[in-house]
Amino acid sequence: MDAVMFNIQPIGRFAGQSAVIRRPKEISCFSYDDKHQYRQDDSSIKYYYPPDLGTDLCKGFDTFQKLDDTADDHLDSLLKSVMDFEKKSGNKVDAGVITWRGMMTKLMSAIFSDRDSFEMNATLFQETIFIEENHEYKRQSQARQSAQVSQQGRPSQDMMSFWGYKFETLALLPASWDEVSRDYIENRDKEIVNNYAQYCSIVKTGIGNTPLVIGGEVDAVWDLKPEDGSPANWVELKTSAEFRNDWDMTTFERKLMKFWIQSFLLGVPKIIVGFRSPDGILKRIEELDTASIPGTVKRRGRGTWDGNMCINFASELLEFIKATVTEDGVYRIRRKGRSATIEIFKIEETGHGEILSDEFINWRIKL
Ligand code: A3P
Ligand code: MG
Ligand code: MG
Repeated sequence: MDAVMFNIQPIGRFAGQSAVIRRPKEISCFSYDDKHQYRQDDSSIKYYYPPDLGTDLCKGFDTFQKLDDTADDHLDSLLKSVMDFEKKSGNKVDAGVITWRGMMTKLMSAIFSDRDSFEMNATLFQETIFIEENHEYKRQSQARQSAQVSQQGRPSQDMMSFWGYKFETLALLPASWDEVSRDYIENRDKEIVNNYAQYCSIVKTGIGNTPLVIGGEVDAVWDLKPEDGSPANWVELKTSAEFRNDWDMTTFERKLMKFWIQSFLLGVPKIIVGFRSPDGILKRIEELDTASIPGTVKRRGRGTWDGNMCINFASELLEFIKATVTEDGVYRIRRKGRSATIEIFKIEETGHGEILSDEFINWRIKL
């Protein structure tokens, strides 16, 4: 098979009323515990409680317990969680595409992020296309980023990445506020920052004619996760530099697109942004309502991005992926930086590469 191309340009063709979207509904979830072990439960849910302003986000960088993500985990945890859902319901989940939220975010934001590049692997199995990140590509991009020499007196990439986790430690609780001691709440600044634990939500959603099952990390819940299956008041935490001028505002608006897509895909209604000074002092907190972000950006009129166009673009791109990934084997979905096309070509003629675990394949063959 020759490579086929999906043209991103001209983007004007994606304007207009947005394609149908299905409201995300959680069908399953899992946690990684504080040793990053998989658990088929919601034990790692965290609870939002406002952090103290004026805190130095650099504090604790030297004792940061950072998860080693050099191993390729493929879709393993997502598939385990899907299997758990299928065992309980007795039915195969209906999805055109199953993937991590991060992959959907990259695909959907490609229309307005010219510089971003990506490589993914895709395979068709029982009418569903499974998409994973090309782990080696991701590892190399991260290593390049990490090796970037920061300008004199400016924080390193690794430090800036730490700020995000530090902010989470300052703004979250391991249980709801009434179950946590006052002492814990007031001394979160002294906690050792650790990114081993995670809560991941697996949702059923849809864009255009493609039903999707997406898994992704949810940072916290505002109050309590309802037990009756109604939508939770999830919260996404983000840090951002305070804006000093119009240029900073425009940069922030571009970041808002990613915040919005990431949260919208999992049905996270609220985003809490911690604004920091250039050297990492937490200055103020802003609560954003996810659903109103595209409208606000449109009204401001900078024209950096458009939410309806993102949705229409994603809908068409998913159609293109479904029309291309039709045979046995493994396909590569690739976008090079500054390229106006997304290419798809075959990298393995048969099988599913390592995208699907044997456990999942065996389960599905029996079902
Ligand atoms: P910020 O988003 O506040 O920068 P998420 O926001 O998706 O919950 O991720 C939490 C934090 O992980 C981020 O906080 C950032 O610190 C770090 N992080 C996520 N993706 C990253 C990447 N590609 N490179 C470096 N750090 C990243
Ligand atoms: Mg997160
Ligand atoms: Mg976050």
